[in-house]
Amino acid sequence: MVEMRGGKWTSDSWRAKPVEQMPFYPDAAALSDVERQLAGFPPLVFAGEARKLKKQLAKVAAGEAFLLQGGDCAEAFAEHSADNIRDFFRVFLQMAVVMTFGAASPIVKVGRVAGQFAKPRSANTETIGGIELPSYRGDIVNDIDFTATSRVPDPQRQLSAYRQSAATLNLIRAFATGGYANLENAHRWMLGFLADSPNAARYQALADRITETLEFMRAIGLDAEAHPELRQTDFYTSHEALLLGYEQALTRVDSTTGDHYATSGHMLWIGDRTRQSDHAHVEYMRGIKNPIGLKCGPSMTADGLLKLIDILNPENEGGRLTLIARFGSDKVGDHLPALVRAVKREGRNVVWSCDPMHGNTIKAVSGYKTRPFDRIMGEIRSFFQVHQSEGTYAGGIHLEMTGKNVTECTGGARAITDMDLHDRYHTYCDPRLNAEQAIEVAFLVAELLKAERAGKPAQVEAAE
Ligand code: PEP
Ligand code: CO
Repeated sequence: MVEMRGGKWTSDSWRAKPVEQMPFYPDAAALSDVERQLAGFPPLVFAGEARKLKKQLAKVAAGEAFLLQGGDCAEAFAEHSADNIRDFFRVFLQMAVVMTFGAASPIVKVGRVAGQFAKPRSANTETIGGIELPSYRGDIVNDIDFTATSRVPDPQRQLSAYRQSAATLNLIRAFATGGYANLENAHRWMLGFLADSPNAARYQALADRITETLEFMRAIGLDAEAHPELRQTDFYTSHEALLLGYEQALTRVDSTTGDHYATSGHMLWIGDRTRQSDHAHVEYMRGIKNPIGLKCGPSMTADGLLKLIDILNPENEGGRLTLIARFGSDKVGDHLPALVRAVKREGRNVVWSCDPMHGNTIKAVSGYKTRPFDRIMGEIRSFFQVHQSEGTYAGGIHLEMTGKNVTECTGGARAITDMDLHDRYHTYCDPRLNAEQAIEVAFLVAELLKAERAGKPAQVEAAE
């Protein structure tokens, strides 16, 4: 038991609080058995790594670095393959290279990966053809197939999610440190992307600068053989801390500090639907020492936010708390300034990050859930503008994206239309940026960030 402001905390003190979005498991004994097994398994990440990420995020909070966070809306058991992980990691690195060079800023890399399985839903049930069944809540809970048996929450799935997370993280660790993340590789891949991008000309100047810089570095003997930092990178994992029984089972006391850490991922965040200050999710999250995120949607008020900051970051520690704004391109200008002002006025040390995905979901005429690329870009621009007017730092971006060439969001350089969506619509939950769209976003963010760091308003072309 830990004495804390806000009362005593234990890894299970959340159980005494009201809770939203938690599945009902009909077989309680099977659930306890799974949680007992998980509690004995090795941690997926280590407290020291979470602390290192927190330090890097403290630099972001201070305006000295930028956070790139992204990955699947929902990871899926059927999508677990080396190819998918490699393609995701590759596009993520390309984006980071574009942003590092374009804005001359260190980029803190955090994947929505190796644990992003549980989903909050807007309704408890789903009705298709007159049949009503429990909603799909992510592969860690139930199966997406629309049958009564598939939709029953099955605790065994938590064991599969744990093992998939471990295998995914293992490959990512190998990629991040074993040579795959070499800066020259990331640049070469980007040249491949540019070769067939309709926007090539616009991006060529940056690509040329990167080529010249790498040649210069090679010429003076700064090569990847001699300098491990050129062939390795720090990459961290994150997911929404939704399934609290699973999170509790993977909570461990760090032997060097005596503090509690979630070991299911480096960074965990609280979703927009589960951020009630007196409820279970906030209770669990206040006690773990990892860096954490808090989604802020249109119903967040300035007072509500300050109260949550008090609970979640009472020591005002830099890097502990990332506020992830997700309003929608048409709402961000109305909602964000008041929150930013309140946080600044009260001197709260936070990272402000922009999730331009979750407030921009629409139902296309074809029936598919989609996100227009222009709206995504529009929300990012407005986010930077608000921070510029308020004299605060736009510190990060939070994306749903994949390394595959899917057709889930409309627009982008290839102008995916509503009619194209059916072609490669593979997501298990929300529509993701495909690899090309993700890199386009990286170019936009690089321009905005460069202007931000130079203290100037961005001269960014409007979306085509
Ligand atoms: C998500 O990030 O997938 C999500 C559900 O977001 P939010 O909580 O902001 O709706
Ligand atoms: Co989502």
